Amino acid sequence: MEKSLKNQVALVTGASSGLGKSVAIYLARAGAKVAVNYHSDEEGAKDTVETIKKEGGEAFAHRADVGDEAEVEGMFEKVFDTYENLDILISNAGIQKDAPLDEMTLKDWELVIKTNLTGAFLCSRAAVRYFLKRGVVEGVSKSAGKVIFMSSVHQEIPWAGHINYAAAKGGLTEFMRTLSQEVANKLIRVNSVAPGAIKTAINEDVWKDEKQVKELLKLIPYNRLGEPEDVSEVVLWLASDKSEYVNGTTIFVDGGMSLYPGFIGNG
Ligand code: BGC
Repeated sequence: MEKSLKNQVALVTGASSGLGKSVAIYLARAGAKVAVNYHSDEEGAKDTVETIKKEGGEAFAHRADVGDEAEVEGMFEKVFDTYENLDILISNAGIQKDAPLDEMTLKDWELVIKTNLTGAFLCSRAAVRYFLKRGVVEGVSKSAGKVIFMSSVHQEIPWAGHINYAAAKGGLTEFMRTLSQEVANKLIRVNSVAPGAIKTAINEDVWKDEKQVKELLKLIPYNRLGEPEDVSEVVLWLASDKSEYVNGTTIFVDGGMSLYPGFIGNG
């Protein structure tokens, strides 16, 4: 693989499984040193680090709750102590706690907002503070820093029964656009990737059930579920200088799910 991220340091939150794990491995293959954040799955994080090291890359694992200010600050300290630098933040950590509104507890509302939205705030604030102070490093990247948020098709598509999740992702859209507007003139690039139905642990109850897959495929014009690699390729491109002029936008990686496929032959 081309070393498009040579001499760069990346922090990937929620990198013990799923999209975060795949992204961490992709960035390491492209030459980045990777800080692998996890919340509860220590084994998964260790496996991400080992996979990267086996391939000749550099990585370490660090536990932190992205919704906890002190733990996030501590995590950034650890990254700077270990690699003396940061070039890329992949704000990926996210959870689902599904229920229709009338059955949703305040606890599950707050937990999803805290992880998926406050986590994005705390991590990007720490990264941006550093990027602003440091500026562009000649010969490393044309940008002073890159922030990539893992959003979802549900930043746009309403999702009955998942109102906390949809509200967090919808909020993340304007968070990302506003932050980009704030810092683009400092050459800090901020963007989102919005995956559709990608086969990871978050939705395995669906893709492990043939009947549900058949229904789900009706929502995906490209007619297959996504793989983590489909998303990682795009994240890698957004993290590299190849996308230098891309600012404040969302790239949907969803096989066409956001094209309202219910309207095919309908409406
Ligand atoms: C959710 C998945 C879901 C997909 C498409 C993602 O953001 O986390 O559970 O399969 O959106 O609906």
